[in-house]
Amino acid sequence: MPLVTMKEILDEASSKGYGVGAFNINNLEFLQAIIEAAEEEKSPVIIAVSEGAMKYAGIEFLSSMVRLAAEKASIPVALHVDHGKHWEVIVSAIRNGFTSVMIDASDKPFDENVAITSKVVDLAHAIGVTVEAEIGRLKGIEDIVKVSEKEAILTDPEEAKEFVDRTGVDALAVAVGTSHGAYKFKGEPKLDIERIKKIRDLIKIPLVLHGASGVLPDIVELAEKYGAKLGGAKGVPDDQIVEAIKAGISKINIDTDLRLSFLAGVRKFLTEHPEVFDPRKYLGEGKEIVKETVKRKIRLFGSNNRV
Ligand code: G3H
Ligand code: 13P
Ligand code: ZN
Repeated sequence: MPLVTMKEILDEASSKGYGVGAFNINNLEFLQAIIEAAEEEKSPVIIAVSEGAMKYAGIEFLSSMVRLAAEKASIPVALHVDHGKHWEVIVSAIRNGFTSVMIDASDKPFDENVAITSKVVDLAHAIGVTVEAEIGRLKGIEDIVKVSEKEAILTDPEEAKEFVDRTGVDALAVAVGTSHGAYKFKGEPKLDIERIKKIRDLIKIPLVLHGASGVLPDIVELAEKYGAKLGGAKGVPDDQIVEAIKAGISKINIDTDLRLSFLAGVRKFLTEHPEVFDPRKYLGEGKEIVKETVKRKIRLFGSNNRV
């Protein structure tokens, strides 16, 4: 079916209380793995493309690939800019058929974030594209020592409400103790679930959790068995994700878990078959593990059997 907007997917998820994964891609194999997994699990899916991905693969290549994959698929697929920082990137993405964009001005002062986000909302909504924005900063809770610092970094519920009222965004990314990458916590992993509930009580649009990878222990173990060095890697445990969804999160961003899965597959294959030099063989093994990981995520978020 043709690409749908993020809003169509998330409004449905939010009203029924399940989460939907936004999975990052940089190449064909990750896209194939995600779409195949979503089809088999009968789940809607959001394909996320960062500015880094556009630089690596080219926005035309990525958008054409995703559009075609969506048209051939029987599940709803949205094509979304992840952490768009530049006006030109947002415009280029809309011209290239993205159905959704994230404008990330979360590092700017509140009023500037409002102004930048509003400008993107005006443009995007005029042509039926939906918008995600962010307030607060992604940083592991245990790295925040003082209460005053915690309040400055994590999303303030009242500020979030004002932000949504003033900008008219369709989805809001909140900072509740997660961070990007494979090293999210040194000690006990902990999200500020109460904060999600407070935000949910004030804001009716879907909420987004960035930095949500679990850094799955079995995948890390597999990659390390075949030579990866990932000491100290730690992510958000599954039970915290379930709590976050119950508290009001609808979109869950996953990149690191796919990177680690691909790494494990490629390392395993190359170690076990040192004589093979056909990239379809080792990339194919990476793809299969990414696909399994996406299926695990879909079931965890509860978006399976929704289509
Ligand atoms: O949140 C960031 C995503 O993991 C994308 O990462 O900027 O390296 O493509 P990237
Ligand atoms: P992870 O690094 O936890 O996968 O987070 C990805 C993300 O937030 C993409 O926007
Ligand atoms: Zn992110």
